[in-house]
Amino acid sequence: MKILVTGGLGYIGSHVVVELQNEGFEVVIIDNLSNSTIDVLKGIKAITNKQPIFEKLDLRDKISVTDFFNTHEDINSIIHFAASKAVGESVEKPLLYYENNLSPLVNILQELQNKKASNFIFSSSCTVYGQADTLPITESAPIKPAESPYGNTKQVGEEIIRDTCKVEPNLNAIALRYFNPIGAHETGNIGELPLGTPQNLVPFITQTGIGKRDQLSVFGNDYPTEDGTCIRDYIHVVDLAKAHVSALKRLVNQDNDYNFEIFNIGTGKGSSVLEVINAFEEVSNQKLNYKIVGRREGDVIAAYADTTKANTVLGWKSELNLKEALLSAWKWENK
Ligand code: NAD
Ligand code: WQD
Repeated sequence: MKILVTGGLGYIGSHVVVELQNEGFEVVIIDNLSNSTIDVLKGIKAITNKQPIFEKLDLRDKISVTDFFNTHEDINSIIHFAASKAVGESVEKPLLYYENNLSPLVNILQELQNKKASNFIFSSSCTVYGQADTLPITESAPIKPAESPYGNTKQVGEEIIRDTCKVEPNLNAIALRYFNPIGAHETGNIGELPLGTPQNLVPFITQTGIGKRDQLSVFGNDYPTEDGTCIRDYIHVVDLAKAHVSALKRLVNQDNDYNFEIFNIGTGKGSSVLEVINAFEEVSNQKLNYKIVGRREGDVIAAYADTTKANTVLGWKSELNLKEALLSAWKWENK
């Protein structure tokens, strides 16, 4: 069965392509290489011994999207990763984020309207919950006003899909709300490639560990948590990738209860920034140069998933722990 993976050369998409090919799916990737390189294809092939079909295309370009679906009439299942994801940049360039994160979504859904049946998986984010009132966070926790245009694109993206599913019974969709994806494939052939200075904790840690950065700044140790630093649910990207395969199978096998469903994808375990640093020091066998600085604007105190729905309904559970994820990130950084 042929699956379209948009943004399939990016960090999460490339790991999903590997898992899909491992499960025997035929993959077609669309990517405009705005935040990835063509070399990722080699990494995927090195792991799976199979080269996915690749089309360089900008999904904002409606005519190209229509042409693509006309050429690949047999594609009815899409996993949609393509988007811009830098929270800080989205504050500086809101229109770029609204355009790039929403117009591809609309373009694709409009193509799916013409099909007798279609399956669609959307990359959403725990950012939609903001600072949740109750932990762990279930899917029924209220959506909080977005802290950034990026966060808003995920909320609006979900609404666009929900509204479309109401009038398109032949469209079956799942939104996966990822918590904090980290790590890399165990082979070290694919991983996260942050452009410029990393904004996220783990790439900053591994780049500091290897000497690319002088020092990690820990944003605040005066939060109301055990050690004063923020708590997140760090999930191994390979576990996250497998969740997509489970979601896809649910749709393909028509096991879904509703034509739009939402699942949290996390480990269910919260870790503080200092716990992540300690775990990194252990797996890399070296001390990390870090200092405590002031809080970063927009950070929530604590977020970790209640994964009961994904565990029971989707039949998926994370298998890898924080140290395994950090070890894979470290291996990737070294490679
Ligand atoms: P990424 O930047 O590594 O991958 C996105 C890919 O999409 C890139 O290869 C990029 O070149 C491509 N792309 C972007 N705009 C495009 C366009 N207009 N047309 C075609 N290709 C385009 O990001 P990622 O970390 O793999 O994230 C994938 C998805 O998951 C995104 O939707 C992101 O918002 C979401 N998400 C990511 C995280 C995270 O922490 N990484 C957390 C929650 C949700
Ligand atoms: C984790 C913790 C920081 C960097 C972001 C997006 C979210 C989602 C996942 C896409 C926080 C601390 C970080 C550093 C630090 N992405 N930190 N020093 O903020 O939970 O989530 O990525 O949807 O939308 O906002 O992840 O990795 O940036 O931060 O102390 O140099 O590490 O304060 O507590 P975050 P993160």
